Amino acid sequence: MSDFLPACKVSDLGDGERRLVEIDDRIVVLFRVGESYYAIDDVCTHDGGPLSEGTLDDFRIACPRHGAQFDIRDGRALTMPATRATAAHETKVDDGTVYVRLSDD
Ligand code: FES
Repeated sequence: MSDFLPACKVSDLGDGERRLVEIDDRIVVLFRVGESYYAIDDVCTHDGGPLSEGTLDDFRIACPRHGAQFDIRDGRALTMPATRATAAHETKVDDGTVYVRLSDD
């Protein structure tokens, strides 16, 4: 597992917002829900749809292509047509910066 790497400033991301970040050549979508931050790959496991462009409802992100839903907290696929989780990454906040540690998935 890699080290925590800086992703963005806390002040760059409002409650309910998301942003794409590149971490170690990997494109990750970072979400803020309340004071919590979640990071998953920007890739739907059904057919590669960009999850960063989906609709967020509570902790569910819906793929904009065919509607599969994923839990942003752990990357689990919640509905068809996706059957496999997308990679989820650990986050932490330190001194006003959000950090992400890439998983090995
Ligand atoms: S590419 Fe995401 S549901 Fe098909």
